[in-house]
Amino acid sequence: MPIVGICSGKGGVGKTTISANLSVTLSLFGKVVVVDGDVILPNLHTIFALEPSVTLQDVLEDKVSLKDAVYALKIGDFSIDILPSRSEDIAMDKFIEIVYSLRDVYDFVVLDIAAGLNKYAVMPMMTCDKVYIVVNPEETSIVDACKVKKVIDKMDVKFDGVVINRYKGEKWAVAMVEKRIGNIAGIIRESKAIKRGWEEGFIVTAVKPEAKVSEEFYVLARRVAGENVYPKPYGKIKYILRW
Ligand SMILES: Nc1ncnc2c1ncn2[C@@H]1O[C@H](COP(=O)(O)OP(=O)(O)O)[C@@H](O)[C@H]1O
Ligand SMILES: [Mg+2]
Repeated sequence: MPIVGICSGKGGVGKTTISANLSVTLSLFGKVVVVDGDVILPNLHTIFALEPSVTLQDVLEDKVSLKDAVYALKIGDFSIDILPSRSEDIAMDKFIEIVYSLRDVYDFVVLDIAAGLNKYAVMPMMTCDKVYIVVNPEETSIVDACKVKKVIDKMDVKFDGVVINRYKGEKWAVAMVEKRIGNIAGIIRESKAIKRGWEEGFIVTAVKPEAKVSEEFYVLARRVAGENVYPKPYGKIKYILRW
Protein backbone atom coordinates (compact mmCIF):
# COMPACT_ATOMS: atom_id res chain seq x y z
CA MET A 1 0.00 0.00 0.00
CA PRO A 2 1.21 3.55 -0.58
CA ILE A 3 4.33 5.04 0.91
CA VAL A 4 3.39 8.68 1.38
CA GLY A 5 6.20 11.24 1.64
CA ILE A 6 5.92 14.62 3.34
CA CYS A 7 8.70 16.92 2.15
CA SER A 8 9.60 20.59 1.75
CA GLY A 9 12.20 22.97 0.41
CA LYS A 10 12.57 25.17 3.45
CA GLY A 11 12.89 23.73 6.97
CA GLY A 12 10.49 24.41 9.81
CA VAL A 13 7.39 24.70 7.63
CA GLY A 14 5.48 21.96 9.44
CA LYS A 15 6.40 18.59 7.88
CA THR A 16 6.49 16.80 11.21
CA THR A 17 3.26 18.46 12.33
CA ILE A 18 1.59 17.39 9.09
CA SER A 19 3.05 13.86 9.20
CA ALA A 20 1.78 13.27 12.73
CA ASN A 21 -1.67 14.77 12.38
CA LEU A 22 -2.24 13.31 8.93
CA SER A 23 -1.24 9.87 10.21
CA VAL A 24 -3.66 10.07 13.12
CA THR A 25 -6.50 11.06 10.77
CA LEU A 26 -5.49 8.49 8.13
CA SER A 27 -5.94 5.77 10.73
CA LEU A 28 -9.68 6.21 10.10
CA PHE A 29 -9.02 4.79 6.63
CA GLY A 30 -6.62 1.92 7.43
CA LYS A 31 -3.62 0.75 9.39
CA VAL A 32 -0.94 3.46 9.56
CA VAL A 33 2.72 3.61 10.46
CA VAL A 34 4.50 6.95 10.53
CA VAL A 35 8.26 6.88 10.05
CA ASP A 36 10.71 9.58 11.13
CA GLY A 37 12.67 9.70 7.90
CA ASP A 38 14.33 12.96 8.94
CA VAL A 39 17.55 11.42 10.22
CA ILE A 40 19.25 14.80 10.54
CA LEU A 41 16.71 16.60 12.74
CA PRO A 42 14.41 13.85 13.98
CA ASN A 43 11.63 15.03 16.28
CA LEU A 44 8.55 13.03 15.36
CA HIS A 45 8.78 11.29 18.75
CA THR A 46 8.53 14.70 20.48
CA ILE A 47 5.10 15.51 19.08
CA PHE A 48 3.96 12.05 20.19
CA ALA A 49 5.56 12.62 23.64
CA LEU A 50 7.59 9.45 23.14
CA GLU A 51 11.09 8.83 24.49
CA PRO A 52 12.24 5.93 22.36
CA SER A 53 14.98 3.63 23.61
CA VAL A 54 15.19 1.86 20.28
CA THR A 55 15.01 3.64 16.90
CA LEU A 56 15.25 3.23 13.14
CA GLN A 57 19.05 3.64 13.49
CA ASP A 58 19.25 0.42 15.54
CA VAL A 59 17.42 -1.38 12.73
CA LEU A 60 19.72 0.16 10.11
CA GLU A 61 22.68 -1.11 12.10
CA ASP A 62 21.15 -4.58 12.48
CA LYS A 63 21.10 -4.29 16.27
CA VAL A 64 17.40 -5.04 16.61
CA SER A 65 14.60 -6.31 14.40
CA LEU A 66 12.19 -3.88 12.78
CA LYS A 67 9.28 -4.79 15.02
CA ASP A 68 11.33 -3.88 18.11
CA ALA A 69 11.64 -0.28 16.87
CA VAL A 70 7.95 0.20 16.02
CA TYR A 71 5.85 1.65 18.85
CA ALA A 72 2.09 1.06 18.92
CA LEU A 73 0.29 4.15 20.20
CA LYS A 74 -3.30 4.61 21.27
CA ILE A 75 -4.25 8.29 21.36
CA GLY A 76 -7.88 9.02 22.15
CA ASP A 77 -9.90 6.86 19.76
CA PHE A 78 -6.99 6.53 17.32
CA SER A 79 -4.37 3.80 16.99
CA ILE A 80 -1.21 4.30 15.00
CA ASP A 81 2.30 2.92 14.92
CA ILE A 82 5.46 5.02 14.88
CA LEU A 83 9.02 4.22 13.86
CA PRO A 84 11.12 6.98 15.49
CA SER A 85 14.66 8.12 14.68
CA ARG A 86 17.61 9.58 16.53
CA SER A 87 20.14 11.91 15.02
CA GLU A 88 23.06 9.82 13.84
CA ASP A 89 25.02 9.90 10.62
CA ILE A 90 24.93 6.21 9.74
CA ALA A 91 24.72 4.25 6.51
CA MET A 92 21.25 4.37 5.02
CA ASP A 93 21.71 1.31 2.78
CA LYS A 94 18.92 -0.64 4.43
CA PHE A 95 16.47 2.27 4.57
CA ILE A 96 14.60 1.38 1.39
CA GLU A 97 14.33 -2.28 2.34
CA ILE A 98 12.93 -1.35 5.78
CA VAL A 99 10.32 1.02 4.39
CA TYR A 100 9.27 -1.47 1.70
CA SER A 101 8.78 -4.18 4.29
CA LEU A 102 6.43 -1.86 6.21
CA ARG A 103 4.37 -1.48 3.05
CA ASP A 104 3.52 -5.18 3.23
CA VAL A 105 2.01 -4.80 6.70
CA TYR A 106 0.32 -1.36 6.68
CA ASP A 107 -2.32 0.33 4.55
CA PHE A 108 -0.35 3.58 4.72
CA VAL A 109 3.31 4.27 5.43
CA VAL A 110 3.79 7.99 6.08
CA LEU A 111 7.35 9.27 5.80
CA ASP A 112 8.40 12.52 7.48
CA ILE A 113 11.29 13.61 5.26
CA ALA A 114 14.18 16.06 5.86
CA ALA A 115 13.91 19.52 4.27
CA GLY A 116 15.79 20.41 1.12
CA LEU A 117 17.57 18.37 -1.48
CA ASN A 118 20.58 16.72 0.14
CA LYS A 119 20.99 12.93 0.05
CA TYR A 120 19.13 12.51 3.35
CA ALA A 121 16.06 14.07 1.77
CA VAL A 122 16.29 12.74 -1.79
CA MET A 123 16.83 9.09 -0.89
CA PRO A 124 13.66 8.80 1.27
CA MET A 125 11.74 10.73 -1.42
CA MET A 126 12.71 8.09 -3.96
CA THR A 127 11.20 5.32 -1.84
CA CYS A 128 7.77 6.98 -1.94
CA ASP A 129 4.81 6.13 -4.13
CA LYS A 130 3.50 9.66 -3.80
CA VAL A 131 4.71 12.83 -2.19
CA TYR A 132 3.27 16.08 -0.86
CA ILE A 133 5.28 19.28 -0.55
CA VAL A 134 4.58 21.44 2.50
CA VAL A 135 4.86 25.22 2.21
CA ASN A 136 3.99 28.19 4.37
CA PRO A 137 2.23 31.17 2.81
CA GLU A 138 5.56 32.95 2.32
CA GLU A 139 7.39 33.60 -0.92
CA THR A 140 10.71 32.02 0.16
CA SER A 141 9.02 28.81 1.19
CA ILE A 142 7.14 28.57 -2.13
CA VAL A 143 10.27 29.38 -4.17
CA ASP A 144 12.24 26.62 -2.39
CA ALA A 145 9.36 24.20 -2.91
CA CYS A 146 9.55 24.83 -6.68
CA LYS A 147 13.10 23.43 -6.64
CA VAL A 148 11.96 20.30 -4.82
CA LYS A 149 9.12 19.82 -7.28
CA LYS A 150 11.60 19.96 -10.19
CA VAL A 151 13.65 17.16 -8.62
CA ILE A 152 10.54 15.06 -7.89
CA ASP A 153 9.49 15.42 -11.53
CA LYS A 154 12.66 13.60 -12.54
CA MET A 155 11.89 10.65 -10.22
CA ASP A 156 9.50 7.75 -10.65
CA VAL A 157 7.37 9.20 -7.84
CA LYS A 158 3.91 10.72 -8.09
CA PHE A 159 3.61 14.32 -6.94
CA ASP A 160 0.11 14.59 -5.45
CA GLY A 161 0.06 18.25 -4.48
CA VAL A 162 1.11 20.98 -2.11
CA VAL A 163 -0.02 21.37 1.48
CA ILE A 164 -0.19 25.01 2.55
CA ASN A 165 0.43 25.04 6.29
CA ARG A 166 -0.08 27.93 8.74
CA TYR A 167 -2.65 29.43 6.38
CA LYS A 168 -4.37 32.63 7.51
CA GLY A 169 -6.35 33.42 4.38
CA GLU A 170 -3.45 34.37 2.06
CA LYS A 171 -5.19 33.69 -1.24
CA TRP A 172 -2.18 35.14 -3.12
CA ALA A 173 -0.14 32.17 -1.84
CA VAL A 174 -2.70 29.72 -3.22
CA ALA A 175 -2.51 31.40 -6.63
CA MET A 176 1.30 31.43 -6.53
CA VAL A 177 1.48 27.73 -5.61
CA GLU A 178 -0.99 26.76 -8.33
CA LYS A 179 0.90 28.78 -10.93
CA ARG A 180 4.44 27.75 -9.99
CA ILE A 181 4.18 24.27 -8.47
CA GLY A 182 0.84 22.55 -9.03
CA ASN A 183 -2.43 21.71 -7.35
CA ILE A 184 -3.26 22.15 -3.68
CA ALA A 185 -3.77 18.91 -1.74
CA GLY A 186 -4.36 20.49 1.64
CA ILE A 187 -4.83 23.76 3.45
CA ILE A 188 -4.01 23.69 7.16
CA ARG A 189 -4.66 26.82 9.17
CA GLU A 190 -2.39 28.59 11.64
CA SER A 191 -3.59 27.08 14.89
CA LYS A 192 -2.81 27.90 18.51
CA ALA A 193 -3.83 24.37 19.42
CA ILE A 194 -1.10 22.94 17.17
CA LYS A 195 1.52 25.15 18.81
CA ARG A 196 0.30 24.14 22.27
CA GLY A 197 0.27 20.51 21.20
CA TRP A 198 4.00 20.69 20.54
CA GLU A 199 4.67 22.31 23.91
CA GLU A 200 2.46 19.99 25.91
CA GLY A 201 2.86 16.79 23.90
CA PHE A 202 -0.57 16.23 22.43
CA ILE A 203 -1.84 15.70 18.90
CA VAL A 204 -4.65 18.09 18.03
CA THR A 205 -6.43 15.78 15.58
CA ALA A 206 -6.61 13.06 18.24
CA VAL A 207 -7.49 15.26 21.19
CA LYS A 208 -9.78 17.73 19.39
CA PRO A 209 -11.14 15.96 16.30
CA GLU A 210 -13.99 18.49 16.12
CA ALA A 211 -11.64 21.52 15.75
CA LYS A 212 -11.51 23.36 12.42
CA VAL A 213 -7.86 22.45 11.96
CA SER A 214 -8.70 18.76 12.51
CA GLU A 215 -11.39 19.01 9.83
CA GLU A 216 -8.75 20.35 7.47
CA PHE A 217 -6.55 17.35 8.24
CA TYR A 218 -9.54 15.12 7.51
CA VAL A 219 -9.85 16.65 4.02
CA LEU A 220 -6.13 16.02 3.46
CA ALA A 221 -6.45 12.43 4.74
CA ARG A 222 -9.30 11.73 2.30
CA ARG A 223 -7.10 13.01 -0.48
CA VAL A 224 -4.16 10.84 0.63
CA ALA A 225 -6.52 7.86 0.88
CA GLY A 226 -7.26 8.33 -2.82
CA GLU A 227 -10.45 10.41 -2.93
CA ASN A 228 -10.75 13.27 -5.41
CA VAL A 229 -11.07 16.05 -2.86
CA TYR A 230 -9.88 19.60 -3.31
CA PRO A 231 -9.63 21.92 -0.32
CA LYS A 232 -11.38 25.25 -0.72
CA PRO A 233 -9.16 28.30 -0.11
CA TYR A 234 -10.79 30.85 2.16
CA GLY A 235 -9.90 34.51 2.69
CA LYS A 236 -8.66 36.38 5.77
CA ILE A 237 -12.10 37.24 7.08
CA LYS A 238 -13.29 33.66 6.97
CA TYR A 239 -10.10 32.59 8.70
CA ILE A 240 -10.71 35.05 11.51
CA LEU A 241 -14.39 34.21 11.78
CA ARG A 242 -13.46 30.53 11.68
CA TRP A 243 -15.92 30.18 8.74
N1 LIG B 1 -0.54 24.84 11.52
C1 LIG B 1 0.27 25.34 12.45
N2 LIG B 1 -0.17 26.29 13.31
C2 LIG B 1 0.65 26.84 14.24
N3 LIG B 1 1.93 26.48 14.43
C3 LIG B 1 2.43 25.53 13.62
C4 LIG B 1 1.64 24.90 12.60
N4 LIG B 1 2.42 23.98 11.96
C5 LIG B 1 3.65 24.05 12.54
N5 LIG B 1 3.66 24.97 13.53
C6 LIG B 1 4.82 25.37 14.38
O1 LIG B 1 6.00 25.30 13.60
C7 LIG B 1 7.00 24.57 14.28
C8 LIG B 1 7.77 23.74 13.27
O2 LIG B 1 6.96 22.70 12.78
P1 LIG B 1 7.56 21.29 12.36
O3 LIG B 1 6.41 20.41 12.08
O4 LIG B 1 8.55 20.82 13.36
O5 LIG B 1 8.31 21.69 11.01
P2 LIG B 1 9.33 20.82 10.14
O6 LIG B 1 9.09 19.38 10.44
O7 LIG B 1 9.02 21.17 8.72
O8 LIG B 1 10.70 21.28 10.53
C9 LIG B 1 6.26 23.73 15.33
O9 LIG B 1 7.01 23.58 16.48
C10 LIG B 1 5.00 24.51 15.60
O10 LIG B 1 5.21 25.37 16.71
MG1 LIG C 1 10.50 17.96 11.12
